[in-house]
Parts: sequence; C-alpha cells; structure tokens
Amino acid sequence: MSDARSDTNVNHVTRTIQATTTITIAICVPIAIVALIISAVAISKPAGSDITVQGKTTSPRQTPQPAVAYSPSTYDASQCHASNRRRIYTVATEFDVGAYVYSDDSGFQVGFGHDLIGAVCQEAGIDCRIVTEPSTNCMFSEKGQPQRGGIGLMEGWYDACTGWLATRQRKQIFAFSKPFLKPFEVYFYAFPGFNPFNITGKKIGLISGWFTNEACLAGLDQVAGRDVPHSNVFHAQTVDKLLAMIQIGTVDVGFSMGTVLANKINGTNIQQFPSDPMFCKNAGPPGMMTRKDNDFNSKWNEGFEKLFSSGRFLKTAM
Ligand SMILES: *[C@@H]1O[C@H](CO)[C@@H](O)[C@H](O)[C@H]1NC(C)=O
Ligand SMILES: *[C@@H]1O[C@H](CO)[C@@H](O)[C@H](O)[C@H]1NC(C)=O
Repeated sequence: MSDARSDTNVNHVTRTIQATTTITIAICVPIAIVALIISAVAISKPAGSDITVQGKTTSPRQTPQPAVAYSPSTYDASQCHASNRRRIYTVATEFDVGAYVYSDDSGFQVGFGHDLIGAVCQEAGIDCRIVTEPSTNCMFSEKGQPQRGGIGLMEGWYDACTGWLATRQRKQIFAFSKPFLKPFEVYFYAFPGFNPFNITGKKIGLISGWFTNEACLAGLDQVAGRDVPHSNVFHAQTVDKLLAMIQIGTVDVGFSMGTVLANKINGTNIQQFPSDPMFCKNAGPPGMMTRKDNDFNSKWNEGFEKLFSSGRFLKTAM
C-alpha cells in the first residue's frame, strides 16, 4: 500500500482501493473522495506552509488526525486501516428477559445486562456494542434433539451472546466466560392446582435453546415422571409463545428459568410452581458464550476480574 503514498492520481487511487477489503472500501471511499476534492482545491491555491481550516491557521504538525483529508498528497489506504484498527466487539442480548433486559419507557432495551456489558468492556479496555437478537440465533433446539449452535453466533454475526449457562452439551459447541451471576432458579408454570412433583403424562412446553431443556428436567430428582417422552415435549421459540401455549392448552405446563417468566405471568391465570426454587443439575452459572475461535472471553474475563476486585460489580448487580 505504501506505493500509493506519493500519488494522488485518480486511477492509482482507484486501483489501490480495489486491492483492499470490502470493509475498507466502505469506510475509505468517502474519505478518498473528500481527499480528492480537497486535493483539487488545495492545488489551485498558492503553495504555503500552513493550511487554513475554518478560519484557523494551523500547522499540519499540530493537527495529526485530519492529515488524510487535508494533505491529499499523503492519502494512503493503509492509514485508513490504521485509524480503524480498533476492534469493535458485538454482543447479543435478548428482548425483554425480566430484570436483566427490559424495555424502558421509550422502547429502548435497558437493564442489568446492558449495565454489566458497559462496565466490563470499559474495564477490559475494549469497544463493545450491543445487538438485540432472538435467543434462538445463539442456541437452538428442537424436540428430542441435542442443542445446536444458533446461526447468529455460528456464522459470526456477533462475537458473544449474553447470560448463557455452560452445560455439557453447549460446551461441545461454544466457549464460555467466567460466570457473572448465581445459577438461575427454574420453575414450572401452569394453571392453579398443578402438582409440580409429578409430571407423569403431562405435555411440557420448553423454550428452544434454553438450558431448561429435557436434560434439565431429567435431573430434577424431586419430580416424578421427569423422564418426559419426546412425544410430550413441545418447543416454543420465545417466552411469549410459551405463555400462549400454556394459555391455549397446547401444553399442560411450561418449564423455564424464573426471572424471565415471573413478571410475565402477572395479571394472568398462570402460576409458578413449586414454592421453593429448583435448579438444573446440567447447568452452571451464566456467563458470556462465544465461538471457540473468538478472543472475546479472555478480554471479558480480564475486565470482569478488574470490575469485581474494584467492588463496582456488586453495585452494578444491585
Ligand atoms: C404420578 O402420576 C401418575 C399419573 O397420574 C400416577 O400413575 C403415579 O402413581 C404418580 N406417581 C407418584 C409418585 O405420585
Ligand atoms: C403485578 O402487577 C401489578 C399491577 O400491574 C403490580 O402492582 C405488581 O407490582 C406486579 N407484581 C409483580 C410481581 O411484578
């Protein structure tokens, strides 16, 4: 790329741009156009050591950052690379998952998850952006099948998914950060009169991709009939669809983590069972989930350690 340094010839610039990546083209073409326009203007001016920018006379040495735009003779695509080198990490969170992520009055997603991502990325010194995504793009499952990596994380649409528990199945697909919350409580959701200690013959609704799956059910020692036959398992793609399935009777009972459904059943006829929390044996506490070839977790873990030892994590978690 350095061969472009001494040349402002249009064809040469065009060739240089063609040789760079698509991303560079998207970012740099507007800059190149600006550079060429200013080049044309600058050439028509008498030669001088100073450049006038909006009435201020400055030496180019004092204003290093606009060098690309104001000194066309030094325009170089590699400078554009350099100025955009800082990696942006994109982190997926879900819509409306209880206290962790919810809509504020103006419809923006806010909550603990967003606060935590902001604080940890700041401590880690990395630039993170939140992407709101359906959870099934992070992890996906269908009746009677092992869980599968969601297309969003698998295809690298973003770097990490937020708040996923490391299970044996999932560890074979993705990598996990250090956990940042206690294990989630899990409950059954059904109409009054449901007996949570015997689910024999019941149709069970699960949320696709969640750790509250058939393996978790099978580990609930206090529940009779916990080895639910596949024919009695029904998957909902979202929390709201699970609630609808319970309400219209597609299933007898829904099974989910508590924080998400506890608010949503308010004002409905659906209740939470049993009164004491249950926990999935197959799942640890939640953290960040990434592809195994991604370096996000190592940076996140560093940032999280710093945040935790500073005592600020507990403030964030309140
Ligand atoms: C559970 O319910 C089934 C069907 O109603 C019944 O046959 C079974 O005896 C019950 N098991 C226990 C342990 O209560
Ligand atoms: C349920 O809804 C009512 C009224 O909308 C509200 O006052 C109450 O705090 C809610 N309870 C929970 C547990 O969210």
